[in-house]
Amino acid sequence: MTALNDAQQRAVETTEGPVLIIAGAGAGKTRVITHRILHLIKQGTAPSSIIAITFTNKAAKEMRDRVHALLDGNKDLNRPVSMRERPFVSTFHSLGVHIIRENAALLGLTRHFTIADRSDSRRAIKEALERLSLDPKSFDPGKVLGAISRAKGEGLTRLAYTDRVSSYFEETIASIWDIYDSVLAKEKTLESMSTRIPTGFNIVLQNIWPMNTKTFA
Ligand SMILES: Nc1ncnc2c1ncn2[C@@H]1O[C@H](COP(=O)(O)OP(=O)(O)OP(=O)(O)O)[C@@H](O)[C@H]1O
Ligand SMILES: [Mg+2]
Repeated sequence: MTALNDAQQRAVETTEGPVLIIAGAGAGKTRVITHRILHLIKQGTAPSSIIAITFTNKAAKEMRDRVHALLDGNKDLNRPVSMRERPFVSTFHSLGVHIIRENAALLGLTRHFTIADRSDSRRAIKEALERLSLDPKSFDPGKVLGAISRAKGEGLTRLAYTDRVSSYFEETIASIWDIYDSVLAKEKTLESMSTRIPTGFNIVLQNIWPMNTKTFA
């Protein structure tokens, strides 16, 4: 049941330093990761200090189920691992949301924030345009959102962006951005993954690990 070939066994048992595994579809990569987690726990690593990140929700669920099955089915563990302390197995985005939720107060949010999708964001931009009496024909909401997303993607906060505006267009974007943020804040909404999540993540990181601010930009 728990068979591992030689290469898998080596990857499972190498717990010091990074390990890179390159293998084809169905070759047994997930098997290595799940057994490596079990191995770490057997060696005394606290289960709650282990995280495993993958790309899709489907892959995360599969990996989580397999980790749980291994933990449940293993008699060599000296005690059962409760649900609360199980390794954190998720997508990168779920990890971001989790960390932000745990530190919501740093961002002026409660733990129960919602995440805006693109249409929520567009609606908030339209509201900002209306409040500034700007014509959506001159300031297309999609383009405005694009400009804000790009700035955020470069790691700029609204204030940093406002500081370095160099045209009427950018100056207007800065004003829209200001109201846009307050519309979202009023609704206790965090912008979607591509924009505010990474920014929020950075703010959280800057507060938790001040030395490490660039890592997740
Ligand atoms: N050494 C092994 N001996 C027997 N069966 C194995 C071994 N390694 C993996 N398997 C089995 O092969 C199948 C594929 O393994 P696994 O899901 O770990 O591969 P993967 O590389 O993660 O696949 P994918 O590319 O689909 O993510 C599973 O059913 C797994 O239990
Ligand atoms: Mg896999």
